[in-house]
Amino acid sequence: SSLNLEALKKEAAIRAVALIGSGMHVGLGTGSTARYAIEEVGRRVAAGELTGLTCVATSEASDGQARALGLEVGPLTPQPFDLAIDGADEITPDVDLIKGLGGALVREKLVEVQARRLIIIADHTKLVARLGEKAPLPIEVLQFGVQSTLVRLQALGAVGELRRSSPDLHVSDLYVTDNGNFIFDARFAGADLAALERTLKGTLGVVETGLFLKMAERAFVAAPGEVREVVR
Ligand code: A5P
Repeated sequence: SSLNLEALKKEAAIRAVALIGSGMHVGLGTGSTARYAIEEVGRRVAAGELTGLTCVATSEASDGQARALGLEVGPLTPQPFDLAIDGADEITPDVDLIKGLGGALVREKLVEVQARRLIIIADHTKLVARLGEKAPLPIEVLQFGVQSTLVRLQALGAVGELRRSSPDLHVSDLYVTDNGNFIFDARFAGADLAALERTLKGTLGVVETGLFLKMAERAFVAAPGEVREVVR
């Protein structure tokens, strides 16, 4: 049931937050699982278990949650992170990821590329053999000239649609990211994801993709009865 799934997500989050020590500089992820992690960081700081912690958030939502818990949140600087904790939408056995179904992929990548350790937290429904098995690949694109950008993406073989802010078909408003951009949720054929990433990053109008390849160190994946550790 969904109630059990929530309990599993929380369990995974607590396992990851246990890796945080006093004085660390920590990246805070986005999404319903990362939410539990931020909650647990707040609890540990309030309990006096952690001191001297500084954080950077990967979305306005996580920033707001962290500040409300009294955490010290600052801007992204070139200072490396000891640890970043975030959810994911798909996780392979090599801990390659699709992220961005929550819309925060750009800030997530900006923060997490600077993390010495990127720790992923999820429930078992996120495990896949190959990326793209269940989830589309979110691609953040500029609003300006979006139709031209979509033509370029379609020429690369992408099939998909611009994300809407509501799943309700009668609401036609397009989803806008914290950075003021749109998201194209795409499906691609083909197996060379590193090449796909390079091609997409070289496509005019594309800001960033939700492919997180060789970035995560490990994932805590909660299944009924156990938290599995998937290590790269
Ligand atoms: C946010 O943009 C995503 O990358 C999230 O990390 C992802 O959507 C996971 O969210 P849940 O933990 O809510 O599934």
